[in-house]
Formats: sequence, C-alpha cells, structure tokens
Amino acid sequence: MEKKIKVMTVFGTRPEAIKMAPIVLELAKFPKVITPVVAVTAQHRDMLDQVLNLFHIIPDYDLDIMAAGQTLFDITSKAMMGLDSVLTEEKPDIVLVHGDTTTTFAGALAAYYHQTTVGHVEAGLRTNNKYSPFPEEMNRKLTGSLADLHFAPTMTAQENLLRENVSADKIFVTGNTVIDALHKTVRDDFVFDNALLQNIDFENKRIVLVTTHRRENLGEPMRHVYKALKQLTEEFDDVEVVFPVHKNPKVRVVVNEELGHLAKVHLIDPLDYEPFANLMSRSCLILTDSGGVQEEAPALGKPVLVLRDTTERPEAVSAGTVRLIGTDCQRVYEEARQLLTDAQAYSHMSGSCNPYGDGMAAQRIIQAILYHYGIVAERPDIFKA
Ligand code: UD1
Ligand code: UDP
Repeated sequence: MEKKIKVMTVFGTRPEAIKMAPIVLELAKFPKVITPVVAVTAQHRDMLDQVLNLFHIIPDYDLDIMAAGQTLFDITSKAMMGLDSVLTEEKPDIVLVHGDTTTTFAGALAAYYHQTTVGHVEAGLRTNNKYSPFPEEMNRKLTGSLADLHFAPTMTAQENLLRENVSADKIFVTGNTVIDALHKTVRDDFVFDNALLQNIDFENKRIVLVTTHRRENLGEPMRHVYKALKQLTEEFDDVEVVFPVHKNPKVRVVVNEELGHLAKVHLIDPLDYEPFANLMSRSCLILTDSGGVQEEAPALGKPVLVLRDTTERPEAVSAGTVRLIGTDCQRVYEEARQLLTDAQAYSHMSGSCNPYGDGMAAQRIIQAILYHYGIVAERPDIFKA
C-alpha cells in the first residue's frame, strides 16, 4: 500500500479554530490515504477550548502558550520553539495554517524551516496597508510568501495572489470554511442556554450585537464606539445591545468603564460559537471589527457596520450588506441611527448574500490536497459566488 499523506493542521486562536474545524473533520473522512495530526499553539486558551469542545476536536499537541499580556514576540517565539519539536517528531508531509494570526505566521515559518510543504487556508486577502490590520496584513502576506498551496476563499483573493506572481496552478478557489461551520450551526429552533439570552425579548426589542478586539482599535477608538452605543440605547427605547466581550483585558477595561453601568447594554463573556451564530441570526444589526463576523453576517442577511478603516474583505461591501465606517463616535452613531430609523436603508443592507462560501470549502481543500499528491486526477471545482 502507498504511504499515507500526513497532514498537520496548526492553529491557535478562536477564529482559526472555527475555520479549521471543518477541515479537521473532513480530513478524518479519508483514513486510507490521510493521517491527520492536530497541533494547537493555544495562543488563545479559553476561546480556543470553546471551539475544540463544540467540534469535539482533541489536539494531538497542545503547546499551551497563552499568557496574560502576551506580546507579539512572546507568541512568535513560544510558538516557533514548540512547533520545532512537534515537526521534528511528526515529520508531516504538509502543514496547513489558516489566515493571519501570529500563530499562522509562526506555523508557516516553522514548517518552512523544516522544509515542509505549507498549505495556506484563507489565502490572498489584502488591504495592502501593512499597519491595518496590524499585524494581520503582514502575517497573511508573509504566510503567503512561504506557502506552496494557496486556498483562496474568493476570486478576489485569487486575483490578489496572481498579482503577486503566485503561480495559478498552486491556487485553489474554495470558498471560506467559515460558511461550512455556519451551515452546521444556525437553526430556527436553537434554544440559548445562557439565562440572559433566554430572557431577551427578540420579538419586541431590536438587538444590536457588538464585538471589538482589533489591536489598532484598543483604547480611544474603542471608547468612541462605546460612547456611540450609549447614545443609541438612550435614544431608542426598543434597542438593546448584546456585547460578548473579548477576553483581552485591554478591551475589557474600557468596555466596563464606558458601558458597565447601562441597563440596556448586556455585557457577557465570549459566547460559544453555536449561541453566537444563532444570536447573529436573531439580531437586527451588527457592529464589529471582527474579520469572521463580516463574512458570516451577510450569509444571515444581517447588516454589518465595520468598525475599521480598512477591510481585506471587500466582497460584502460591494454587495451592499457591509459598510466600512471606522470608529469616530459621531459617524458610528449616525450610521447606526440611519439603519434604525430608515426602513429602506435597512432593507437595502439586509438582503442576504453569500460572497464568501457555499459550505463546501473544506471538501474542496481536501480534494486539492489529494490532487496535489496525485491521489485524485481532477482539480476540485472552483467556488463561484
Ligand atoms: C488574536 C489575533 C488576531 C485575531 C484575534 C481573534 C494576533 C497577533 N492576533 O488577537 O489576529 O483577530 O486573536 O480573536 O495573532 N485572552 C484570554 N483568553 C483567551 C484569549 C485571549 O485571556 O481565550 C487574553 C490574554 O490575556 C491575551 C490577550 O487576551 O494575552 C490577547 O490575546 P492575543 O492572542 O495576543 O491577541 P488578540 O487580540 O486576541
Ligand atoms: N465568535 C464566537 N463567540 C463570540 C464572538 C465571536 O464564537 O462571542 C465567533 C464569530 O462567529 C466568528 C469568530 O468568532 O466566527 C470571529 O472571531 P474574532 O472576531 O475573535 O476574530 P477575527 O475573525 O477578527 O480574526
């Protein structure tokens, strides 16, 4: 029998875990040809474990690197050292990394130092501004430079890679695996187990869902956003804010100062992916600086105001369901107010669209790997929005 391909997935934060989970599950379906290995850095601890539990993923290696107040240097050096040992022991044929975090970049660099093939999932997104998002833009670009196979979620991402002279035969347009995960998760009959969410009157209240965590928004930009939220809840009786607050203490301190005492603002811990996705689908409007949420909400027909100055995800902006508004207090207030008062503006933004995926991305990625190793003869089909 031919040698099996050893495929090692490396991830460390919540969004990587959510988007890698469909791949880990798909890899397990090919035991005759694939030996899967899962290595997590645990750059995030609790927020990673939430996702591992949901998808029943038990890592083969857990580097457990997270520390309070960790710097980019801490994450990079600890991940590199830990992955060196794992790669020495496992000798995978290919390492799969996802996206743009520091775990992603360290995973790709560690694999490269071991002269191991690198597959980059969610490749080719660009703002072309090296400090926005920071450090994600360069993490993604550097990972792209190290990668041998590029799994671009959209045609736009493929075009970015082609412009950087990546060879066309190494790019596979697959859709984003986040839509695979979302399809497995959102249900009309979903019942929240969180007491606060159980008691929210989704029929008569309009829920504004908020998340913030970007490094470039820490401090004053976030404070401006929170002041706008306060103004909105004071103006609209039927509007309530649900805000699952990221575990980063630098986020938490400002959130608590600005919003901690407001009855109509519900500050809660990060939700498990399942309740979060179902909360998105029951919300009226989403304000976020998250990358993943920008991809999921359009599929659910929810307008998103993106609290950033740049986005590497232009597709939903072009489709009209996402608007890039930055963090200026007045602007955030006015943009949200318009959607809460102008039914036409709201309905213009709330038509659902699926520019990011069709739920088949993980399948295409595994088929692309099998094609690369000559196990299947055909390239997978291309995701078209
Ligand atoms: C990281 C990624 C970012 C990604 C985000 C997703 C980098 C540099 N940043 O940013 O690209 O969009 O994750 O959320 O890779 N913490 C906990 N428990 C957790 C997670 C975090 O306590 O489960 C706290 C820790 O104190 C940690 C801090 O949050 O030091 C910051 O975590 P870190 O991964 O450094 O940065 P994020 O802002 O989460
Ligand atoms: N998410 C979650 N629980 C929450 C908030 C977000 O499961 O309380 C999910 C969300 O659906 C998306 C992902 O986390 O899939 C986005 O993660 P995050 O915003 O932390 O990172 P980014 O996508 O910006 O890198």
